[in-house]
Amino acid sequence: MKPVKVGILGLGTVGSGTFNVLKRNQKEILGRAGRRIEVAMVADRDVERAQSIVKGDCEVVADGYLLVNNPEIDIVVELIGGYTVAKDFVLKAIENGKHVVTANKALLAVHGNEIFEAAQKKKVIVAFEAAVAGGIPIIKALREGLTANRIEWIAGIINGTTNFILSGMRDKGLDFNTVLKDAQALGYAEADPTFDIEGIDAAHKATIMSAIAFGVPVQFDKAYVEGITKLESIDITYAEQLGYRIKLLGITKRMANGIELRVHPTLIPEKRLIANVEGAMNAVLVNSDAVGATLYYGKGAGSEPTASAVIADLVDIARVDTVNPEHRVPYLAFQPDAMNDTPILPITEVTTSYYLRMQVKDQPGVLADITRILADLSISIDAFLQKEPLEGETLVDIIILTHQTQEKNMNAAIEKIEQISTVMGKVTKIRLENLL
Ligand code: NDP
Ligand code: HSE
Repeated sequence: MKPVKVGILGLGTVGSGTFNVLKRNQKEILGRAGRRIEVAMVADRDVERAQSIVKGDCEVVADGYLLVNNPEIDIVVELIGGYTVAKDFVLKAIENGKHVVTANKALLAVHGNEIFEAAQKKKVIVAFEAAVAGGIPIIKALREGLTANRIEWIAGIINGTTNFILSGMRDKGLDFNTVLKDAQALGYAEADPTFDIEGIDAAHKATIMSAIAFGVPVQFDKAYVEGITKLESIDITYAEQLGYRIKLLGITKRMANGIELRVHPTLIPEKRLIANVEGAMNAVLVNSDAVGATLYYGKGAGSEPTASAVIADLVDIARVDTVNPEHRVPYLAFQPDAMNDTPILPITEVTTSYYLRMQVKDQPGVLADITRILADLSISIDAFLQKEPLEGETLVDIIILTHQTQEKNMNAAIEKIEQISTVMGKVTKIRLENLL
């Protein structure tokens, strides 16, 4: 069979990893794909640097349009990132009848519906294994391995940078900025680390998984997004004393009235496997009706781990290129006419448990006032911790873990608690998930 010709747009962290792994494991990959996968052209702004990576093995150009318009190229691999130029290149490649592989979760979470529609019309594949949890084959698992199941919920540590930061803060007592710099140096962080630390990158990935799990369009604009920048290390410590770890989770859940889609710091019982995922590692827990809970763990970022997923897509395409497009795996797991419009619920409608921390005056009746407010709103307390006041101080920290309630109910309780004269300042609220 004739080789499949590939063009790589962007030879940065993931692009160079893809080039190198394809070259190194050429024989192995040929044995699996049944066809040679040949990089015919690379486009990068920095031609000299790209040339130093490809070492004369293929043509290097600065202008990506030379690549997407090149009639020799069968598959365009978009590894530039972002929503602007990457979108233009992807749509042009599709218009030119080329298959596309991308690791660009931002692009798919925001413009995925338009891109999949264009691809459907041109009968080309858009593959994106690397876009969610880097090297972990979670898209394959959700779209194919779990295809018999009704998926109930997914909860994932899907941003390596924030997990690396939270681990560093907890284990080594390092401050936020020091650990962030380490993550950037290791190539985990996005070009703009705001996307990582504010939860946006995780929300891009959760949005894609939500669409695949529940057969709805990608709807990043409806996701609730809260990062780790406001998280205080005292809460990591208190959570630990209560038997919990705090992780930035991407959660999507099927509920009776809609779909929850949210990213936020979350307390998880420390005995759960996922609570022990440390450093830049990712893990995704999927709960489905037939198989029950399954857990996928591995490197969610980095040059070669991400290249592993990009190349898996290339091999898939090399194998099914000639298959009738109607018989391919649908982009979002469900056939276009089987998609549904179940609404994404606003955060106020979400149901979960909570960790509350407040500082109160150490005097009689304070606790009674707080618990009365919770009881009046039918919020049940699961655990309680009162810290000793420091020498000479009259204020104490109180930590309450609640059972499940709706977010709007919890917000109403917090508003009332903050009005009690013996409660000082704001109440810190962190969501808690028992995950099974
Ligand atoms: P990099 O910034 O390392 O690489 C992007 C490359 O594209 C750079 O070499 C950049 O050049 C080049 N580039 C930018 N604009 C153009 C253009 N107009 N034409 C040609 N080349 C261009 O990014 P990553 O490799 O880290 O990420 C690539 C994609 O993979 C992103 O979508 C990212 O979200 C995703 N991803 C990344 C992971 C990771 O671990 N890094 C993991 C999973 C997904 P210059 O340096 O001059 O800007
Ligand atoms: N910045 C991302 C992370 C890269 O830290 O997980 C992988 O998508």
